Amino acid sequence: MSIKNAVEIQNLSKSFKTGLKKRFQALNNLSLTIKENEIFGYLGANGTGKTTTFKLMLGLIFPDTGDIKFWGVSFQDVKTRANIGYLPENPYFYSYLTGQESLNFTASMFDMKSNIKKERINEMLDLVNLQHAKDIQLRKYSRGMLQRLGIAQALVHDPKLLILDEPMSGLDPMGRKDMRNIILSCKDQGKTVLFSSHIISDVEMICDRASILSNGVLKKIITVDDIMDRDSNGWEITFKGNADTIESINSKNENFILKQLSAKDIFLLKAIDKKIAFEILNIIQKQGAELLSFVPLRISLEEIYIATTLKKDQ
Ligand SMILES: Nc1ncnc2c1ncn2[C@@H]1O[C@H](COP(=O)(O)OP(=O)(O)OP(=O)(O)O)[C@@H](O)[C@H]1O
Ligand SMILES: [Mg+2]
Repeated sequence: MSIKNAVEIQNLSKSFKTGLKKRFQALNNLSLTIKENEIFGYLGANGTGKTTTFKLMLGLIFPDTGDIKFWGVSFQDVKTRANIGYLPENPYFYSYLTGQESLNFTASMFDMKSNIKKERINEMLDLVNLQHAKDIQLRKYSRGMLQRLGIAQALVHDPKLLILDEPMSGLDPMGRKDMRNIILSCKDQGKTVLFSSHIISDVEMICDRASILSNGVLKKIITVDDIMDRDSNGWEITFKGNADTIESINSKNENFILKQLSAKDIFLLKAIDKKIAFEILNIIQKQGAELLSFVPLRISLEEIYIATTLKKDQ
């Protein structure tokens, strides 16, 4: 079965009026395809056009040029919105409503039968772990609770596509972990998730693909496979050895770096070449030294991000 495209963005540009005759180009000729059921990370520094892209997708603002299609249907068709759940960058909540009332309010905007609505709200409260706080007014919610409620609101009408603008912002490590799990559970249910974030490790952990936006221009698209397949920046070996092991290794006179890490004969060795790394591994095992770890040094998404973002300034 061929994979369908959930989103197709073609040559999208958006400028804002900033003076009498001045316009600021916030998004420049963006083309991007998001496949059905993928988790896509939309990365970029502050002010590079992430929120602008999302607002264009939601039809909250209009492009100068370009088109967006959801499952082949143009964004200009308002019916497409029923398939989209959106968590804005700064969600606004009615602070005197309770969590449950707030979800009910959002659900009422969609065409849902009352028994299904009730069931769905209950499911959402479970999913975002707010069942215990459903009768508490939102003004008493913490930042993390509000962010989780925001996700529940985005999901209450069971959309096929979720667009989340900085869903991890303001969350502590446990809150971020919960948010990652919620996003992964959406994928398990067949949904497509597009989210922006500044926290690259979160993107790396859960995304199938990610893109890097810089000054309104899409610079790069990276897949998880790109990161995993790269044959590394070298190999790192840690082992517990004695003078004999070290002598045997040093006698190879090859290209590597060897450091003693502690007084307890623990050593760290870095080799760029895979063949050399495996030969040294062989020596360690032959000498009966204790191997502690043997890992490829993969380039991280963070390194790719920094290299891509710096390039634009040169
Ligand atoms: N209504 C507007 N009028 C003028 N300029 C705007 C408007 N909305 C956004 N911009 C500008 O467009 C650029 C992109 O803004 P956008 O909010 O899309 O960035 P972002 O990537 O979401 O940033 P952040 O990570 O800080 O949320 C910024 O320079 C911003 O100042
Ligand atoms: Mg933004």
